[in-house]
Amino acid sequence: MDERSELHAPARARGRLRVLYTAEEIRERTARLADEIRPHYEGKNPLLLGVLKGSFIFLADLARALAIPLEVDFVQLASYGDGTESSGFVRFIHDVERPLAGRHVLVVEDIVDTGTTLAFLLGTLASRQAASVRVVSLLDKPGRRVNQVQVDFAGFTVENLFVVGYGMDHAEAYRHLPDICALEEV
Ligand code: IMP
Ligand code: MG
Repeated sequence: MDERSELHAPARARGRLRVLYTAEEIRERTARLADEIRPHYEGKNPLLLGVLKGSFIFLADLARALAIPLEVDFVQLASYGDGTESSGFVRFIHDVERPLAGRHVLVVEDIVDTGTTLAFLLGTLASRQAASVRVVSLLDKPGRRVNQVQVDFAGFTVENLFVVGYGMDHAEAYRHLPDICALEEV
């Protein structure tokens, strides 16, 4: 039992957690991602467009690692259902507050899995006259793609695993975990 055993306690009810990336590894990767992303946006006051809820912690850390003037907005999308599989039907729960026309938009995702959610979002953004639209995703599961969407910047590539922690959930649990963990059936 380490000092995190209490944080990981819900695992007893829902499955077993295996740490994939520690908080320290996430911090290092985010710093390098920010170095890769920054040159595209210096002097452009980009809009970081977070996809709620899963990206909220990553966006907060990425915004600080970028350390350039930027703005933040959020969309919330839902694919029907609470399970570990995306249903394929996506809808808006919350749209952006301000117009995107002329803005340099960086979509900030937690994880791109089948690509269904991102394809829907990019499809709706296409009509809004943004100056540019790029995508950063903390995690990428390319082996699961159904919709071929482009992820311009990816933190970690993972296999076909269900992951939780660092903002990501299973039925709303585990978002608070500092590490990224695989949730495994027991
Ligand atoms: P997609 O539409 O299949 O690409 O999945 C989109 C959304 O489903 C992601 O942005 C996540 O919020 C959620 N999701 C997909 N895979 C996982 C996972 O392994 N753990 C937690 N959430 C996931
Ligand atoms: Mg998401």
